[in-house]
Amino acid sequence: MVIRIAAVGDVHLDEDVVGRFRPALEELPDCADVLLLAGDLTRHGTEAEARCVAQEFGGLGVPVVTVLGNHDHQCDEVPQVVKVLEDAGITVLEGDGVVLDCAGGRLGVAGVKGFGGGFAGRCASDFGEPEMKAFVRTTTDSADRLSRALRSLDCDVLVALTHYAPVPDTLAGEPLEIYPFLGAYQLGQAIDSAPTALALHGHAHAGSERGTTPGGVRVRNVAHPVIKQAYSVFHLGDHLDQGEVSRMSVSGT
Ligand SMILES: [Fe+2]
Ligand SMILES: [Fe+2]
Repeated sequence: MVIRIAAVGDVHLDEDVVGRFRPALEELPDCADVLLLAGDLTRHGTEAEARCVAQEFGGLGVPVVTVLGNHDHQCDEVPQVVKVLEDAGITVLEGDGVVLDCAGGRLGVAGVKGFGGGFAGRCASDFGEPEMKAFVRTTTDSADRLSRALRSLDCDVLVALTHYAPVPDTLAGEPLEIYPFLGAYQLGQAIDSAPTALALHGHAHAGSERGTTPGGVRVRNVAHPVIKQAYSVFHLGDHLDQGEVSRMSVSGT
């Protein structure tokens, strides 16, 4: 049995963009059991833009689960944005998870926006000024919540959903100077703390698609500018052994 997961991030919807994804999304029930959105749903995080997201991704015939991105925080309207999305039937995760009954088994999705900080040997540390400590603690708190959420889910297949990147592999193509603002190694550690089958993220528009955590979990950057399609579809088998993916394929739509 297989669970089919469609995913895309960084759709950055506003009134000018809304409608462009919908034709491809109408075909989702034929090729996927769930749609996961990896944040940056809007351009500036306004309630009006959230209504565009609700219009585009509401009522699709498959469950839709999302995390928010940094753009969705820009106008400090997060509570309003979340309410509009949830009213449209979209599940918004931030440090928590959901288990979905799919034909191929129980899919657990744990999600968090995440934050920056960088990667091994080139990262910020919890030292010095209060501002730097607060920056790094934002990242570690986010990673801790992701780890707890992943380990709390009782499911057959476990997926981690973030906006920020958990590994540097999928940033290849971005300027090295901005890696610390694109992701953090602590998110990768969180993903490796549970039997995660697949980790999905966005945020790195000029990055690349494929990576792996130090623990061997497949990571995919599904930012729309990277995948260059309405969504990617991942097939995950339910015969997992110690967190290894027994079967996964990626197809365009
Ligand atoms: Fe983005
Ligand atoms: Fe982003």
